Amino acid sequence: RQEKFQKIYDLYDAAQKLYTHILLNTTAGEQALAYLKDDRQLDEDTIKRYALGYVPSNNVLLSYAREHNIDEKVLAESELFIERDGELVRDRFSNRVLWPIRNERGQVVGFSGRSLDPDNPAKYMNSPESPFFNKGKLLYNLDQAKGNIRSGQKAMIFEGFMDVISADLAGAGGAVATMGTALTPDHVAALSKLTDQITLVYDGDAAGQKAAKHSIPLIREQAPQVEIGVISLADNRDPDEVRRELGLEALKQALEQSVQTPTEYLIGAAKAGKNLSNQAQYLDFLKEVWPVLNTASPVEQDYFLKKMAEDYGSSLESLQSEFATYQQEHPA
Ligand code: GTP
Ligand code: MN
Ligand code: MN
Ligand code: MN
Ligand code: MN
Repeated sequence: RQEKFQKIYDLYDAAQKLYTHILLNTTAGEQALAYLKDDRQLDEDTIKRYALGYVPSNNVLLSYAREHNIDEKVLAESELFIERDGELVRDRFSNRVLWPIRNERGQVVGFSGRSLDPDNPAKYMNSPESPFFNKGKLLYNLDQAKGNIRSGQKAMIFEGFMDVISADLAGAGGAVATMGTALTPDHVAALSKLTDQITLVYDGDAAGQKAAKHSIPLIREQAPQVEIGVISLADNRDPDEVRRELGLEALKQALEQSVQTPTEYLIGAAKAGKNLSNQAQYLDFLKEVWPVLNTASPVEQDYFLKKMAEDYGSSLESLQSEFATYQQEHPA
């Protein structure tokens, strides 16, 4: 299998080097480089370490491929070009900052490109699905994070490429990201063979909350031995925005000190946006709490029932009795 795709991997490798060269050393790359340095606050070392690049809009890769007489079949299978009437007519990526995506073995197998135009509705464009680029299986940065995770750094799952890079700058060497898709059983399997501790660090917005609510039960089911942590960020920020707006130290602190258990996190999420001194909203909150507690350990159930009795003025007995009723109706 390795051999079958080797020519495609070689092409990706050459493309990545070309795009990085254009970003760092040519006038065509100046605007993109300024974007990465000034707007995204990345230094040149980091840009090189992640092999970021820039692809202009002049079909530079197609010209390169023709000059080097690369096999037409390899070009077609690479998904790096757009085809019309059986002819490769232009580069798939155009006028975008590029993040190379490597597989677990460190081979470049795809790109994700970010438009510099804030009005472009497709902020990111990824390589299409192919036999060697499968978003449901790939985790961004796993090749670099793997060794760190094996030697004891925490595996952390983020939403975006910039979040991974920001976490790395904050000292979190076990950072990986899914690429715009939900966490899958294959992602969980790839991480849980390296570690039994996985921390979710999704954006602090509604989409991030939805992702956490999807990922927690998935990890529990696929890898029951894994201890899950959840970090929630305030004010709709994502980890990269925490670094750029509040500083690297603030991100470091958030990643080191604000880990919650899934139960804590999910109860906090049930609370969000509700006024719990309002009777109807308090009852809605309880309705969301019971299924969360139902998957918690007896010690956690006890802890949160007592805490809720203290915080919201219901008697412990009434909460225990309502939860017991829920449990009878929904055997775990
Ligand atoms: P920045 O604005 O560059 O910081 O991006 P982000 O990573 O914060 O993006 P966001 O939180 O909006 O989305 C999280 C992830 O979803 C991104 O890293 C991408 O992988 C993916 N994504 C976001 N927008 C798009 C899009 O327009 N198309 C595709 N295919 N994926 C996207
Ligand atoms: Mn988005
Ligand atoms: Mn987001
Ligand atoms: Mn984000
Ligand atoms: Mn972001």
